[in-house]
Amino acid sequence: MSAFPTPKQLWRDVQVFDGLAQLDEPMTLLVEGERVAGLWPAREFDEAQAQGATEVGRGGVLTPGLVDCHTHLVYAGNRAGEFEQRLEGVSYEEIARAGGGILSTVRATRAASEDQLIAASLPRLDALLADGVTTLEIKSGYGLTLDDELKMLRVARRLGELRPVRITTTLLGAHAVAPEYVGRADDYVALVCEQMIPAAAAEGLADAVDVFCEGIGFSPAQCERIFQAAQAHGLALKAHAEQLSNLGGSTLAARYDALSADHIEYLDEAGVRALAAAGTVAVLLPGAFHVLRETQLPPIELLRQYGVPMAVASDANPGTSPICMPTLMANLACSLFRLTPREALSGMTAQAARALGRPDLGRIEVGSPADLCLWDVQSPAELAYAVQAGRLRQRIFNGEIVYA
Ligand code: NIG
Ligand code: FE
Repeated sequence: MSAFPTPKQLWRDVQVFDGLAQLDEPMTLLVEGERVAGLWPAREFDEAQAQGATEVGRGGVLTPGLVDCHTHLVYAGNRAGEFEQRLEGVSYEEIARAGGGILSTVRATRAASEDQLIAASLPRLDALLADGVTTLEIKSGYGLTLDDELKMLRVARRLGELRPVRITTTLLGAHAVAPEYVGRADDYVALVCEQMIPAAAAEGLADAVDVFCEGIGFSPAQCERIFQAAQAHGLALKAHAEQLSNLGGSTLAARYDALSADHIEYLDEAGVRALAAAGTVAVLLPGAFHVLRETQLPPIELLRQYGVPMAVASDANPGTSPICMPTLMANLACSLFRLTPREALSGMTAQAARALGRPDLGRIEVGSPADLCLWDVQSPAELAYAVQAGRLRQRIFNGEIVYA
């Protein structure tokens, strides 16, 4: 038996959003060590259960820690200049085809050391944590050489050691064709399949592999080769699909049992059906929609009809979503995509966790890891309704209260 008893912590009279819905009445929550050990309606709580527990919170809204399931948080430089160009009418695709866009961040990221990337990324990570994130995914994709992609993934892993947060990593070698391979996209895909994926898998640096299936990215046939290589190395799959056009990337992703298809503004009914059949999560990225001033809405009503799980993420990146505020994403998901606040919050907790292959996270139920947020609001819907920093009273990571 351990010499130290497991610490017991109690929250009283909290409104609970459990990851799927708001519970009907004020609750009492008990955390023992790293896990949720009990959850009772406050008026039924048997005080004997409180023995040995310390009351650490009273009142407010308790949600699972937020899960940001799609970010490109690690990069160097910024693209404020392109933001101004776009305001003058130049499109995202035109900038990309002229060698800017993703490739401009690739140049800055290649030139940066691991330490410089850590220093550039930490303020962004801290902004996410201050707004309630306890788990996030970080993609590579601004290196586009074997060494630079692995460098990005190492930085992502190191960030998880520097802060109390869970980080999952995704190799996005197929984000753009590397400048050295222009006109030889298939050779670049071979580099991704034969070198990047095996190395990232062997070094334990990637949990998943992502592709950008798009006219300015990779064709479905090229994405399929990458999915096959990733599966052969036991890595989970994700896809940027149907963001700017409909190439059938989501259907392909579903066919390979991908965890998620992300963006999906141009997804059609056949694609929705494919996602539903595979249980692939639709990840909505309202920040990119907003920043690119898109008008094509993702097919929310069809996703609902077919019961496709919908997640919401920040897509934090220097081009299409330079935004590190998950609760703003909840607001945008409601105001731009007409999600209900409940859907938006579920999209940033339970559904986002599924999109990372971690259905154990993003829920508040007995036995789940105690990753929690206590908010100074009166109802969960307020988190999506108002855009306001500073409402997070406590961030609880793995049973430990870490103030934001
Ligand atoms: O998710 N669509 C491709 N990738 C990113 C944008 C990356 C960038 O512009 O730097 C996205 O929108
Ligand atoms: Fe993205």
